[in-house]
Amino acid sequence: MRILVTGGAGYIGGVFVRAALAAGHEIMVIDNLCTGFEDSLPPEVEFVRADIRETRLLDPLLARADAVVHFAALSIVGDSVADPVGYYRENLGSFLTLLDRIRLHGPHRLIFSSSAAVYGSGEGRPFDEGDPLLPVNPYGGTKLAMEQTLAHVAPALGLNWLALRYFNAAGAVPGHGERHDPETHLIPLALEAALGRRELIVFGRDYDTPDGTCIRDYIHVNDLARAHLAALTALDRGVEGVLNLGTGRGHSVQEVIDSVVRITGRESVIKDGARRTGDPAKLIAAVKKAEECLGWQAQYSDLDEIVASAWEWSRSLYKDRG
Ligand code: UFG
Repeated sequence: MRILVTGGAGYIGGVFVRAALAAGHEIMVIDNLCTGFEDSLPPEVEFVRADIRETRLLDPLLARADAVVHFAALSIVGDSVADPVGYYRENLGSFLTLLDRIRLHGPHRLIFSSSAAVYGSGEGRPFDEGDPLLPVNPYGGTKLAMEQTLAHVAPALGLNWLALRYFNAAGAVPGHGERHDPETHLIPLALEAALGRRELIVFGRDYDTPDGTCIRDYIHVNDLARAHLAALTALDRGVEGVLNLGTGRGHSVQEVIDSVVRITGRESVIKDGARRTGDPAKLIAAVKKAEECLGWQAQYSDLDEIVASAWEWSRSLYKDRG
């Protein structure tokens, strides 16, 4: 299949690009490099540096594609709180352009990167796809708006689609991992702390969880990439709609810190801080639907394995081999 990957120079998009190439697909990437890196793209990729709204450049790619996998989006919760209009303009605005140009040029397969942020605050059982959608920040709001738009316009466009709700993407594959600037995610920050490059602040120890710190469902980024490949196949079997992508297991911030100590063998400077606005206590995926619809399961079931892969990447990024 010839796949157009939007945002393919980013963290999750880049892992998908590698997995899709290895599976024998032909890959075209469109990315404006606002958060991605051109040097992260494998040489086999056909790359166009452009914003999706540059339709003169987008259209010929769509016309040649058999499927689109749409990763491109702004994804920092805190930034979305600071600039909600900008987040809706960038995320929803470019998505509307993409759908409009798909209407004109095809293709008829679309996989969309959604997020667990559409669910909002979680305290209890794992979220399943039928749970109420009550995003607590503008970032989650943009993803929900995009899901709803897609569900409404897809029939008119003859589009087969799946929206994949990622829980906490983590880990790395050889040569490619998280490289956000500034970094806001727990695992890379904890590893930077282990490298002595910073201190780590724990955002709240007073949550209603066993150790008082927030619980998240960390899914290895290569498992996410494998799920996208399975989703492309599932589209042709008539599978459509929204699917959670997680492991079904949760780990607290303290458990991540303990894992980082085990994997790195280093003690870090860790401080306790206040809660971060908008952080739900507990976000865990119910994964039965994805497993059934995609015939897929997360292969990384152990937090230490995920952290170890991220540690390899962090050390190569900062050239620390000690
Ligand atoms: N945390 C800290 N200190 C830090 C950074 C994070 O204690 O310096 C804590 C957070 O409070 C949270 C947990 O670590 O409890 C995970 O935080 P991340 O920033 O790594 O990830 P989030 O859960 O906030 O968000 C991520 C993605 C979102 C997505 C969400 C879905 O960034 O885009 O997962 O679960 F919506």
